[in-house]
Amino acid sequence: MPTVSVIYFSGTGHTTKLAEAVHKGAASVAGVQTNLIAIKGEDIVHGRYKNDAVFAQLDASDAIIFGSATYMGGPAAQFKAFADATAGKWFAAAWKDKISAGFTVSMSPSGDKLSTLHYFFTLAMQHGMIWIGQPEMPLQPNGVNRLGSNSGVMAQAGQESPDIAPSEGDKLTGEILGQRVAEYALKLKK
Ligand SMILES: Cc1cc2nc3c(=O)[nH]c(=O)nc-3n(C[C@H](O)[C@H](O)[C@H](O)COP(=O)(O)O)c2cc1C
Repeated sequence: MPTVSVIYFSGTGHTTKLAEAVHKGAASVAGVQTNLIAIKGEDIVHGRYKNDAVFAQLDASDAIIFGSATYMGGPAAQFKAFADATAGKWFAAAWKDKISAGFTVSMSPSGDKLSTLHYFFTLAMQHGMIWIGQPEMPLQPNGVNRLGSNSGVMAQAGQESPDIAPSEGDKLTGEILGQRVAEYALKLKK
């Protein structure tokens, strides 16, 4: 049975909400198992991320979906510490041919979120992974892909609490991406 893992960093909870939506979409596909993994600050010691149990889960995954809050026009430092810790996987080509995708949340409608998604893409390409984009048409009446991103899922926090933002449309966009990744993981495993 293929496994889809969602690994993300959230500082104040908005990205957690989007990660839960992406995970929900992946878990909705029959015959797929899923992991939802938060990057914890306490796993970063002297700037280095270390969590062997998380890496065991990721090694055993057929698809890995990367997520982070956008901080200063890129992924948060905590996500980057995790990404740097994957260098050993790069040396061993351990994640080659796994499926990948990404999502991010920032305060502004743009907020330079594309840089974060492009960083996830670069990370995935370094590992020889297969990137799944976001083909939904922008500005749909139900709010799907209202921010018009095709590289991955973008959501907006605005000034609202995580109880209010991201919007239902943004979360549905995340759900659709999770489902798409799980469907590809299933196809690839056959
Ligand atoms: C250090 C820092 C840098 C930020 N940089 C950006 C930014 O570049 N663009 C933006 O739109 N929002 C920026 N924000 C706002 C966050 O993206 C926003 O608060 C979002 O909710 C963070 O997600 P989280 O709740 O999962 O931590 C920044 C916030 C912090 C704390």
